Amino acid sequence: MKFFLDTADLAEIEEAASWGALAGVTTNPSLYARIGGKLADFENHIARICEIVDGPVSAESVAMTRDEIVEDGRRLAAIAPNVVVKVPTMVEGLAATRTLADEGIPVNMTLCFTVPQALLAARAGARYISPFIGRFDDISEDGLDQLANVVDAINNYDFTDNTVNGEKIEIIAASVRSANHVTQAALMGADIATVPFGVLKKMVSHPLTDRGLESFMKDWEKVQNA
Ligand code: E4P
Repeated sequence: MKFFLDTADLAEIEEAASWGALAGVTTNPSLYARIGGKLADFENHIARICEIVDGPVSAESVAMTRDEIVEDGRRLAAIAPNVVVKVPTMVEGLAATRTLADEGIPVNMTLCFTVPQALLAARAGARYISPFIGRFDDISEDGLDQLANVVDAINNYDFTDNTVNGEKIEIIAASVRSANHVTQAALMGADIATVPFGVLKKMVSHPLTDRGLESFMKDWEKVQNA
């Protein structure tokens, strides 16, 4: 499993990138709004993220028609070679994904919740599909069950021929709220988990690691004073 950071916050991205395990970043309009982002700065902001991260950076189109999404997608893809255009799973989004994919522009289909949505995204040429976990949990449904179904369904077919550079389609476990979501997504075989910085920090730590470290330090002090 690879790890993407789900944020538009440059400080978080810089910090996570310095840990050596970051493979990409996903942003969305809400994440950009959360950092006080302004429309006029958006493209420069994405360019900055692309400089920090050596991997795919998803930037979302907010257009609602296929032509506008394609236009957005071309503009976003021109920012940097590692930009991936994030497109919502809807009819206009599917149509735009087909055009962008045919032009060699990688698409991450977002707001994907069900197996039929995921299969349509794959058939439309999406390079990445982002099934959301946490938003199902928010409405008292099991997001992990839904993700498992998407992983199984996608893996039943060969989608190597419909994506940019013939690379295999990858499933991004999105809307991740806990380290356990990551564990379960990895056990199911999701290719990538995109996680908020808070979850990434929790993934690193465990109380037994802390306890073990503390006792090693104490014992090492004894060695030094022996
Ligand atoms: C995915 O790419 C989305 O940006 C994200 O995972 C949404 O998560 P949320 O449900 O916590 O907003």
